[in-house]
Amino acid sequence: MDIKKIVSEMTLEEKASLCSGQTAWETKIVERLGVPSIFVADGPHGLRKQKAHSDHLGLHESVPATCFPTACATASSFDEDLIAEMGKAIAAECIAEDVSILLGPGTNIKRSPLCGRNFEYFSEDPYLSGKMSVAHINGVQKTGVGTSLKHYVANEQETLRMTISSEVDERTLREIYLAPFEEAVKEAKPTTIMCSYNKVNGVFASENEYLLTDILRNEWGFDGFVVSDWGAVNDRVDGLAAGLELEMPTSRGVNDAIIVEAVKSGKLDETVLDKAVERILNITFKTVVTAEQKEKYPLDLNKNDEIARRIAGQCIVLLKNEDSILPISKDKKVAFIGEFFERPRFQGGGSSNINPFKVTPAKELIGIFDNASYTKGFLIDDDDTDSKLLSDAVKHASENDVCVIFAGLPDRYESEGYDRTHMNLPANQIELIVEVAKTQPNTVVVLHNGSPIEMPWICNVKSVVEAYLGGQAAGAAVMDVLSGAVNPSGKLAETFPLRLQDNPSHLNFPGERDKVEYREGVFVGYRYYDKKEMPVLFPFGHGLSYTNFTYSDISVDKSDALDTDTINVSVKVKNTGKVAGKEIVQLYISSKMETVVRPIKELKGFKKISLSPGEEKTVLFTLGKRSFAFYDADRKEWRLDGGTYGILVGASSQDIRLCQDISVNPTVPIVRPITLNSTVMELMQDPKGAALIEKYKGSAPLENDGADNLSPKEEMFVAVLKEMPIRSLGMFSGMYITQEMLDKELG
Ligand code: GLC
Repeated sequence: MDIKKIVSEMTLEEKASLCSGQTAWETKIVERLGVPSIFVADGPHGLRKQKAHSDHLGLHESVPATCFPTACATASSFDEDLIAEMGKAIAAECIAEDVSILLGPGTNIKRSPLCGRNFEYFSEDPYLSGKMSVAHINGVQKTGVGTSLKHYVANEQETLRMTISSEVDERTLREIYLAPFEEAVKEAKPTTIMCSYNKVNGVFASENEYLLTDILRNEWGFDGFVVSDWGAVNDRVDGLAAGLELEMPTSRGVNDAIIVEAVKSGKLDETVLDKAVERILNITFKTVVTAEQKEKYPLDLNKNDEIARRIAGQCIVLLKNEDSILPISKDKKVAFIGEFFERPRFQGGGSSNINPFKVTPAKELIGIFDNASYTKGFLIDDDDTDSKLLSDAVKHASENDVCVIFAGLPDRYESEGYDRTHMNLPANQIELIVEVAKTQPNTVVVLHNGSPIEMPWICNVKSVVEAYLGGQAAGAAVMDVLSGAVNPSGKLAETFPLRLQDNPSHLNFPGERDKVEYREGVFVGYRYYDKKEMPVLFPFGHGLSYTNFTYSDISVDKSDALDTDTINVSVKVKNTGKVAGKEIVQLYISSKMETVVRPIKELKGFKKISLSPGEEKTVLFTLGKRSFAFYDADRKEWRLDGGTYGILVGASSQDIRLCQDISVNPTVPIVRPITLNSTVMELMQDPKGAALIEKYKGSAPLENDGADNLSPKEEMFVAVLKEMPIRSLGMFSGMYITQEMLDKELG
């Protein structure tokens, strides 16, 4: 297809018209030139295609589809192959419905546990978020269906999302919020990027040239097109000029005319419009659904339901399992309590909300236990305790060997469009857990929530299973885990803090009227709790299994490396238990230097491995410069400081099993020129500078000859001198150093 030729034959009006939608979900056509329309549809964990009434909030019906586990669950699998398989399965449903682009994945960072859309995002960690995004995009795009990686960028809350400005310093923006997008653009090449509603440092994302062109295209090489979030365009002409190709939904011709007028008046160079149309057509022709795709990727909803169940089972996180109360043997008398048992919560509200063609409540599988029964215990749609339901549940629990409470956050507690204001379960559920646990020591809590909750009752119960929002088959997946048919292998992709107040964003979320300041900087999630040495309820990377794993024999292929080297790390992991299981082996890097303030450790590798009882495997990791680097905002580059770095391998961010220090140095050391405003210490650290001081110092007491030689006052004087600018040295020490001396001695 000769795209340039097609563009050259278009009228100005035709070109302008292609820069916005025809409807809520369809792009425009140019029939005389054979330009087709393509259909785009949400969402990250399943197809939400609307044939009749359209909306971007999941208010109206959509075609029946498979609701897969949401991102908060899938990220807990730490399994790229599994997520790619899910992407491919969703794509098959897109193809069947002639949908060319799936509007996902969402890869915003979980800055606060209160964000209403946390269920739709992967992690608090940028490395994990990036790898999960790559897997999802590759899974979808290998079928020829396109994706829309979103929401670019710094859209970590729902409060005032369409007008607020996210104020983020450059280093934080690069290391935390842009990093997952960078990884995905470079490794998976998403066909489109969806810009976010908010401003970033005062400029709407939909017209932010620095983000849309300087970084996304010029630095990262993005070659698809940028689509606005629905209604995110502020000034259409500024947006085009900045690098926003497609406005959605339709502007009903209003902005098309504005574009035409802008070109005619000279405000917008027509070559900018031509480039935008080229980019849109490139993707349009590439993603038009074909008969070959339909043949190659046939729709099988029942198979997709099985896939959804298997994926959900791999995402479930066993947070606590005292006395190995789980799995429950089938001959046990089991009391199931909680309305989620019959009415599972498996997805979140908003644009990602799927119309599942099938839902399997856990209750449907109650028969896998020989002697199990159910009482409601509480009503999901009410926060207040129903005393009859409560007393029946307590009695029911006390009459059985073990009690499993299905608890969680009701739909109204978290959704697109608004944020949570607290981290509590509904009061009636908290009361039920506490009261049941008083009479039934063998109490298990299964949670259905899209983001962390406080657990004041954690010591009252023996086991907690985090099922997150696990899709339409979540009920079955939970029963698979409770019965032992599936050995849980998920690990937390976010920290569960003890209290909301402990969270690093707490003082700056959701911000004031027109801005939210990301004042915690890079210290998001475990980066913060580690640095503050603050206890948490459950740490990032935590998750138990029905078996145990040991780690041994860490080794690196070089202990002294340059930033251009690849460093290979290997460790051995063994299943020392009695059942097969999967372990997520995590690798963190810890800089021992303090030239810049850095987190104690940062995730830079993970591998999920299956091990039979007694089996041992060697796990390999490959590290490169970016594994150790930080973003130097002054020098506008990723770089690393030479020195010692710890390689930490473990079962969670707080369960490090093996460590190995290595030295890594920059190929090109940073040389900071010595000027009269450099400190005396900097001069002393420079070999030529030290010689200069030696040559001219006279009686200046510069050297700290050892604490016993100097009095406390002399110690203080030396300390002050060392951090003094060279230009001031003379007046306090009699040793005058001039620019000429610096030029002569340092060259
Ligand atoms: C919504 C969401 C976005 C979604 C789009 C279309 O407002 O922010 O994630 O893809 O509109 O529904």
